[in-house]
Amino acid sequence: MEIIHTIKALKTFLQTFQNEKKKVALVPTMGALHKGHLSLIKMAQQQADVVVCSIFVNPTQFTDPKDLEKYPRPLVHDIKLLKKVGCNVVFMPSVKEMYPAPENWQINLGPAEFLLEGEFRKGHYQGVTQIVKKLFDAVNPDVAFFGQKDFQQVLMIKNMINHFNLPVKLVSCAIIREEDGLAMSSRNIHLSTSDRKNALILSKSLAFAKDNFKQLSLTELLSQAVTMIKNTPGVVLDYFTIVNGDTLLPIADKNEKNPVALVAAKVGETRLIDNELLG
Ligand code: PAF
Repeated sequence: MEIIHTIKALKTFLQTFQNEKKKVALVPTMGALHKGHLSLIKMAQQQADVVVCSIFVNPTQFTDPKDLEKYPRPLVHDIKLLKKVGCNVVFMPSVKEMYPAPENWQINLGPAEFLLEGEFRKGHYQGVTQIVKKLFDAVNPDVAFFGQKDFQQVLMIKNMINHFNLPVKLVSCAIIREEDGLAMSSRNIHLSTSDRKNALILSKSLAFAKDNFKQLSLTELLSQAVTMIKNTPGVVLDYFTIVNGDTLLPIADKNEKNPVALVAAKVGETRLIDNELLG
């Protein structure tokens, strides 16, 4: 596996494959890799000849400096995992490499940028889409893989791709869960034993919404799911909502296209998100 730190070296390495019309895949990550990330690498291997995994803890997408500081960075372990699954290239740039000078530009991501996570984490999706654009520019991938767990992120990246008319295919991959239902996340390592137990209410409330989507009214579904979460100790709910997956606006009718239940809550000191497609 090649370990590359600069955009120039990455472009030189990939050029040979791109000249031979080989398909290049990108799996952007912030490291602290778990089975969810490895499933993205495996999907990428099925669809491309060369798989690049980037590991970059992107400072511009953090709204809370403490969150950035405590973001896990187990690089040696990450590299070991990537070698084990046969990833071809890991791209690990420095902050200076990705942001050589201060930048001030905005991408029009549409009104959904400011809803849900956008409301709780102001400017987050500008940071995400700007770094993904920079990674796309560095790799020039044919296809890029993202986890469905960050549902709104996938939508924002889709909008960014459309905004710039980029020739990249975006693949959203299913959420990988622990055996008891907790969605895998790099943040789970911050959960104490009791947080870990309490956090299960997120996947349970989503499963409840999925199982009862046909039988219950929307009002009843939302009210019962919210009550389940609010009755769980140590969990502070930010939102539980059922939206149209294209606009992120709450649905008024269960027959609306692409319904998805989204939840965000603070469990102990850790903020978690999860979702379930209801269609
Ligand atoms: O999902 C993530 O890990 C990050 O938001 C991403 C897409 C790698 C951009 O920094």
